[in-house]
Amino acid sequence: MTAIIVVMLGVIVFTSAHWGLHPPSQVETIDSTSLHKGGEFSESNLGTWITPDGSAVVRIVAQQYAFVPNCVLVPAGVPITMRLASADAVHGFLVQDTNVNAMIVPGYVTTVRTIFTQSGERLMPCHEFCGVGHQAMWANVRIVDANNFPFDEARGKAVSCAQ
Ligand code: CUA
Repeated sequence: MTAIIVVMLGVIVFTSAHWGLHPPSQVETIDSTSLHKGGEFSESNLGTWITPDGSAVVRIVAQQYAFVPNCVLVPAGVPITMRLASADAVHGFLVQDTNVNAMIVPGYVTTVRTIFTQSGERLMPCHEFCGVGHQAMWANVRIVDANNFPFDEARGKAVSCAQ
């Protein structure tokens, strides 16, 4: 039994080192208990911003049992950096029909870079069990053609399609 445990631990250590496994972003820490008190993930910052270089940054807070904002508005064909933080438990998120899929671990910022090529509505469910309301935790991602996205507005404030 001891030998089996030692071998399995060895496999884990070896594969972690060999593949360079790490949390699903560059390691960037944040105090998850004070997100609402200000800083990058304060409420007015949540949603989509257009940066000076023309790319988009989307900031989302995951909390039991919702994403804020609950409807993410992004332009198609534009480089997007999604930055997520959890206010409580471990959550996960994926964007249906895309390769966006990551965990959101309290204490860390999850960063995912992508370009959505197809416009349309995508579901963004939480895919890590996070409590009794887990199955009701999801958001929509609305990908619109670049000429339908409010670029000027999003240079000055966070935009979303949340109701
Ligand atoms: Cu959040 Cu499951």
